Parts: sequence; C-alpha cells; structure tokens
Amino acid sequence: MTNTELRNKFLKYFENKDHKIISSASLIPENDPTVLFTTAGMQPLIPYLRGKKHSDGKRLVNVQKCWRTNDIDEVGDKTHHTFFEMLGNWSLGDYWKKEAIEYSWEFLIKELGLNKDKIAISIFGGNNDIKEYDKESEEYWLNLGIAKERILKLSDNWWGPAGETGPCGPDTEIFYWTGEEAAPKSFSAEDDNWVEIWNNVFMEYNKDKEGQYTELEQKNIDTGMGLERTLAILNNLDDNYLTDLFKPIIEKLESISNLKYEDNKKEFRIILDHIRSATFLLADNNSIVPTNTGQGYVLRRIIRRIIRLSKKLNITESILISLANIIIDKYQEEYSELKDNKDFIISELEKEEAKFKKTLDKGLKEFNKLIESNTLNGKEAFNLFASHGFPLEMTLELALEKNIKLSEEEYRKEFKKHQELSRTASAGMFKGGLADDSIMSKKYHTTTHLLHQALRSVLGDHVEQRGSNINEKRLRFDFSHSDKMSLEEIKKVEDLVNDKIKEELDVSFKEMNVAEAKELGAIGLFDNKYDQRIKVYTVGNFSKEICGGPHIENTKELGVFKIKKESSSAAGIRRIKAILE
Ligand code: SER
Repeated sequence: MTNTELRNKFLKYFENKDHKIISSASLIPENDPTVLFTTAGMQPLIPYLRGKKHSDGKRLVNVQKCWRTNDIDEVGDKTHHTFFEMLGNWSLGDYWKKEAIEYSWEFLIKELGLNKDKIAISIFGGNNDIKEYDKESEEYWLNLGIAKERILKLSDNWWGPAGETGPCGPDTEIFYWTGEEAAPKSFSAEDDNWVEIWNNVFMEYNKDKEGQYTELEQKNIDTGMGLERTLAILNNLDDNYLTDLFKPIIEKLESISNLKYEDNKKEFRIILDHIRSATFLLADNNSIVPTNTGQGYVLRRIIRRIIRLSKKLNITESILISLANIIIDKYQEEYSELKDNKDFIISELEKEEAKFKKTLDKGLKEFNKLIESNTLNGKEAFNLFASHGFPLEMTLELALEKNIKLSEEEYRKEFKKHQELSRTASAGMFKGGLADDSIMSKKYHTTTHLLHQALRSVLGDHVEQRGSNINEKRLRFDFSHSDKMSLEEIKKVEDLVNDKIKEELDVSFKEMNVAEAKELGAIGLFDNKYDQRIKVYTVGNFSKEICGGPHIENTKELGVFKIKKESSSAAGIRRIKAILE
C-alpha cells in the first residue's frame, strides 16, 4: 500500500461516518506559547476540545503534520522521527468510547485488512490521580472478540495535556504483532514485536495550573495513528524508512554518496529524518529560520547535524539541497506550502550550510585537540558553540563517538555565566521602559516588542535590548549592534513591523518560570532567578518576550509605524526613535 492510498482510505472511511475532512494546521502552534511545535493532531483543536464550536461540526478527521523534539535522540532506529504525520479522527462532544473503539476496529480489520489475531490492546489501569481502571473500554474490546489475555491494564495509559495545562484523559492503545513467529496468546508490553499503531484518547479531563484534574463538560474523542509506522506494518516492513515515504530520498542519497543504505543505516536515517523535518519547518510559515533560540535553534541543530554526518560519511558533495528538492517534489501534492516556499527553503538551507561550513573544519580540529589533551569540559564545549557554532548536542554526540562523557550541566552553567556577563553591561536599565499606563504608552510598548523582534530578524540574533524609554509621543529603543544601519535595513525593519501590525496579531501572555521561558526561546531581560514566575508576552507567532506588561490586545490597534532616527548611543549600541502615525 502506498502512503497516498493509506491517507485516502483513512479520510474516506471517516468521511463516510459523517466526519468533515479538515486540513493540517501549522507546525508552529498558534495559540500556545508553552510548546515549541505541534506535537499531535489534537493540539490545534484545543479550543474546540474545550467547548468552542467548530465551523465544520462535531466530527472531524485529518492528517496532521507533527514535530517532536523529545524523540530526536531516538532518531536513527527503525521507527522514530522528529517530523511525522498523524492520522486522526475527533468527536467534539459527539460519539464516545463505544463508537470510537468500533470505528478503529472496523477500519483496521475491514478496510486495511489487518489480521485480527495479531491485535492486542492496552487500557487505562488507574493511577494516583484517577483511581478507577477503564472498565467500559475493556468491555467493548471483549465484545469485539479480543481475548482477555490480550488486554493489558496500564497505569500510564493516559494522554496529555499537550503543554502544561489543557484537555487530557485515559487512552486505549492498539498494538500489532510484527514478529516472524505466530503471535503469543497473551500481550506483553515488554516484547518489541508488539508495535503500537493507534491511540484512542478519551478526553474527559482538564488539567489546570495547580495540577488539578476536573471533568470536562464536553467529552471528546482524540485519536492518533502514525502514518509512517502503519504504512510499514501494512507492507510487512520492519523499518519505516523502507516505505515509499522515504524511498526516493534514500535512492538520491545513495547515488550522491556512493554508499548503501544497508551499510550506513543509522547515519542515513538521521540524515533522511532531519532533512525532511528541516524542509517542512522552513516551509511552514516562512518565519522559522536557523537561529540560536527556540524553534530556530532546533532547526539549526538538525541542519548542522546533517552537515556533520555527511562529513563523517566522507560525502564531499552538498546533500541538503538535492535531498530537499526530492522532498518538495514528493510531498507537494499534500502540502502546497513546500512548493510555494521552495525558494525560501533552498536559500535558507544554502545560507546555513555556508555559515557552518566556514567554521566546521576549524571546530573539529579544535575538538580533536581538546580530546587529545583531555581538556574537553563544559567550558570548552561552550567555547565550541560560541566560536565555531557547534550546537551543544553535536558536541555531546561527538564526545559520545569517542567514548567520552561530557557534563551537560557544566555546559549549562557556562552558558548562564556568559549570559550574566553580557548582561552586566545593561544593568540599571529599566524593564519595559514604560513611564505610564496610558493607551499610547501601551501601544508603544507593544510596538517595542515588534521592533525588537524585527531588528533580530533583519540584523541577526546578536541584537539584544540595551535600554527602552517610552512616552506618549514616541518610543526609544537601544540595542546591541555595532554598525550604522543602512537605509535598506531601516526600511526592512519598518516594513516588517508594519506587516505584523497589518496581520492583526493577538497579544497575550502566559506565566512561567525563567527556565521555561528560555526553553521556549523567549527574548528579553533574563535577570530573574531561574525558578521565579515571570510573564512571557507573545505577539502572534512573531514575538515572544519576557515582560511585565501592560500591552494592547491586538496589533490592529497600532496604526502605522515609522522610524524617525537611527543613531549611535554608546560603543556597540545603536538607538532608534520611532513613532506611530
Ligand atoms: N493525542 C494522542 C496522541 O498523540 C492521540 O491523537 O497519541
């Protein structure tokens, strides 16, 4: 079965059961700054799982692009991916456990033709928060003919919430036997031959900030089935990378490198996974580019890992662009953003490759020297990042290849020290730079966030706030940057801010601690203690900044942004004065 057939069968089956097909949402969550990426099909649906009415009704089905950072280290085996696609069906307060289970069964057995004797099930077995095991699901599975020994009660059969808070609930997972010999009578979660293919979540609870679970008024079904894994099983393959989703990419890589997939599985899989993930991230909304924070850092990390691995395999030709081109071709029917953003994808990959190639050889030499003299420690690892652009994870991986253990904690300490040093220069500046809480001041305050991010997007991530002062008539913003800005750069920044104003972006905030804000890639003044609660203000997907507020609610309130003056403020610090018209 090809991936297209599987997608179509799934969507058709649920369409026939009165589900509306909805398109995949963006990989970058729109309303939840507590997560970097869309990790599951339910995530973009959270408002509707909480009770908001969906314009397509109560039964939905789709194929959702997903991205999971927590699986990065597993990539290289047969089944893990950073980017993958999830087939999912939802009931928003409509059908419940019985129908959900029966639909799953019918689809797997009747539509896909899987062997029912190879199916096993896990259900929620109760835990400290919710004591009762899921008797209802057990009954439905028994009624469908699943033997008692093939149903396991597990305390961790629970899914969500996707971020810190939100809808969640018990789940029932469907496993398929992939071993050569006949499937054993009873199901054991320890036996890797049982592969999970589909998860049905019964979203009955909401978890709040205090960690309390309350029953949702509207009970929902949320299911997720990995496209790659299911496709492999349907084709009797024990390796997701051998499905038609990856085949042309493998062939291209084999022909460029003169190497065989069979002989270099781990490196090939990482390269294949990462190039697909990077291409989809760049295609997503044109706003994620390789940087040193947040999503941009993840992107940088995987692109640089591909470049490093291709060097390790002695591939002399550049592989990024040729592989990305194949992915764009292969997936463009389903995801038109690949085609629409092709030039952007290619140019960002080229830029990042050029940047990293400049420092990679020197960095590797430096790394080898450190290994020889036994001095590789957190500080040195940090220097490899600061001087040669080695993401920490790459240094850890290199160290591991040499059987050396490197302390991540030490590195993080160095990183923090460095941030504190660069902050001393800015000590004494006031936080939001806000003199009063008038509407105009609030407007200039939100505009300052837009300007800060726009400067970083146009000039680079070295731009950091060094001072801010706002009154009713104008904003003044000091930032780290050594050269006078060209007229073209000023225009670009102005245009970008005005574009964001026109996009009518919502401004909102979440409370979290500093470590979480960092993880999220928030910018701003990190001068609070690590565990202190702070607010992170987000403006659409564009800006995330630590800040006490206050702000306006939507950028449509702002008018037209104009930079009046760009000048020097101190050595290495520039100053912008700007107004709203
Ligand atoms: N949210 C569940 C999962 O990710 C089901 O879609 O597995």
